[in-house]
Amino acid sequence: MPHTRAACSDCEEAVRIETQVTRLLGIDLPIIQAGMSWASSNAALPLAVSRAGGLGVIAAGPMYRDDLAETIDQVRAGTDRPFAVNLPLYRKGVDEIIDLLVEKRVPVLIASQGGPKKYIERFKVIGTVCLHVVAGAEHALKATDAGVDGLIAVGGEAGGHPPPELVSTLVLGRAIAKAVPDMPLILSGGFADGRGLAAALALGAGAAQFGTRFMLSYEARLHDAYRQRLLGASITDTLVVGRGLGMIRVLRNRFTETMSEAEHAGAANEARRAIFAGATLKAAAFDGDIDHGKLEAGQSVGLVGDILPAGDIVRSIARDYAAAIAVLPQPTES
Ligand SMILES: Cc1cc2nc3c(=O)[nH]c(=O)nc-3n(C[C@H](O)[C@H](O)[C@H](O)COP(=O)(O)O)c2cc1C
Repeated sequence: MPHTRAACSDCEEAVRIETQVTRLLGIDLPIIQAGMSWASSNAALPLAVSRAGGLGVIAAGPMYRDDLAETIDQVRAGTDRPFAVNLPLYRKGVDEIIDLLVEKRVPVLIASQGGPKKYIERFKVIGTVCLHVVAGAEHALKATDAGVDGLIAVGGEAGGHPPPELVSTLVLGRAIAKAVPDMPLILSGGFADGRGLAAALALGAGAAQFGTRFMLSYEARLHDAYRQRLLGASITDTLVVGRGLGMIRVLRNRFTETMSEAEHAGAANEARRAIFAGATLKAAAFDGDIDHGKLEAGQSVGLVGDILPAGDIVRSIARDYAAAIAVLPQPTES
């Protein structure tokens, strides 16, 4: 288990949990706030997380270049601590966004949905730490060979885009830790609390990434109707839809009913694609259309029972982690 000690001059609770990943990123706690389109496409959430000693992540996916530039400046103005930008490589205008992130010399880049070749050289020369999101051991080996500094492995429990075969984080995490044993590894999908963090570190990761937990923070850029719907959800209220179309894990609503019906009826690809494309995360997160929008959320939604300030979430994860590992039985000689 990693070293836990009191330190951190300006953390309220003065706690540090040191791992290979915290050393790589220069943060106090192995707690990464997941990049979430809309929900973390702002300064408030990443800023609160980075200030509390975790890694705050701006989700660049749906942001215009100038908004993103301003958001990066706001986070920088609010803290000296590291933060990251999450960049889905399939997004429209990705080259222009890469230029901006190089110009801004972001401390950490988290790239998803594509290969590292597109960006790695440009960020390496300016000292940006490059993390790459992977969905399996083969993908992890390729990203490692391409020279990324660390990996984020996302398992089947995750909100947003889980891996195609829905292998659980419990199994996927160990497979990747085994495939690339020396690589700094962050596990994502289903963690939500301090016990989750303890589990991630036991599986061989150096940090856990938390998405759904931070959606239930005051700082998440989320319509209140969406937040309230998340608050009332149980661990069985999510499902995956859109296999072959960019599958997502979402809460059940009218959109998922229509989508599931089409899938079960074996509807033609074009018909399924039209239903899938007709609903958006923006409609749910921004306009509050919780019936027809894509309500992306992970299974761990049912483990979260409160909306809290993001800094308190970071601190409670660290506190509960310490309590969880303190009661683990130690092996004894018979
Ligand atoms: C609303 C929402 C939006 C997301 N958007 C992105 C994104 O833009 N880029 C990305 O790499 N992952 C995205 N994800 C996936 C998260 O980064 C993360 O892997 C996932 O939320 C972890 O699982 P958890 O929700 O169980 O904690 C999103 C997840 C959610 C719930």
